[in-house]
Amino acid sequence: MFKNTRDGGGDGRYASWTRDFESERERRARQGDPEWARGAALPPALVRSLRRFQVGENGDGAELIGKADRAGDPTYAAAARLFVAEERNHARLLAELLAAGGAGTLEAHWSDTAFVRLRRLLGLRLELLVLMVAEVVALRYYRTLRDGRVDPLLSEVAGRVLADEERHVPFHCARLREGFAHLPGPARRLVTAGWRALLAGAACVVAADHGAALRRCGVTRREFVRDVVSSSAPVAATIAGAGPAPAAPAVLLT
Ligand SMILES: [Fe+2]
Ligand SMILES: [Fe+2]
Repeated sequence: MFKNTRDGGGDGRYASWTRDFESERERRARQGDPEWARGAALPPALVRSLRRFQVGENGDGAELIGKADRAGDPTYAAAARLFVAEERNHARLLAELLAAGGAGTLEAHWSDTAFVRLRRLLGLRLELLVLMVAEVVALRYYRTLRDGRVDPLLSEVAGRVLADEERHVPFHCARLREGFAHLPGPARRLVTAGWRALLAGAACVVAADHGAALRRCGVTRREFVRDVVSSSAPVAATIAGAGPAPAAPAVLLT
């Protein structure tokens, strides 16, 4: 039996997110991995692009987990751990995909090193805002790869990662909305306007850096930036408290 639960206030308000992450983990285990043995024909532009995203997916989860622990809500900290595990699984899937295409991974990339350093300087709320830049850019990136008809294994992996990223955005939105709720409306709108400006800048950097890969999948740099920027409006409204609160996941009652 399913019940659509909206997490309210008080302890355990992230319990349904935790259960959602856990049920997704179980579903992934039942589903198993893509059939890596069938191999992937990855054009050089896609290999270069995937290598950089693979480094980014590895990220700096320990830092986020530490901040989530210090936030004093054990159910949120548990959900954050499961979120980090999903991101690490993305890194693993991309590494396997690259291997199926006969390519290795990168040790590091300047953009990820800068991103991780920036996040370390910030508290939980600001770190989540910066992380949300990556999440929203990733939505358009993986959708481009999934729909690009370049290689079936590439489409399958991108589709799996995209489905996770689509759950991550409302999870972070819920936390950010709560985190900024104490600010007056104009201050919240200033925060989200700054976030949208940062996102637009990041979309331009990704479009410049990954333009050849995007083009190979049928999306121009301009289209990519335009879509990322327009997709950020409802996210910003939700964080600012102007739109409807993100619904917690449908929960399997046992
Ligand atoms: Fe990811
Ligand atoms: Fe994500």
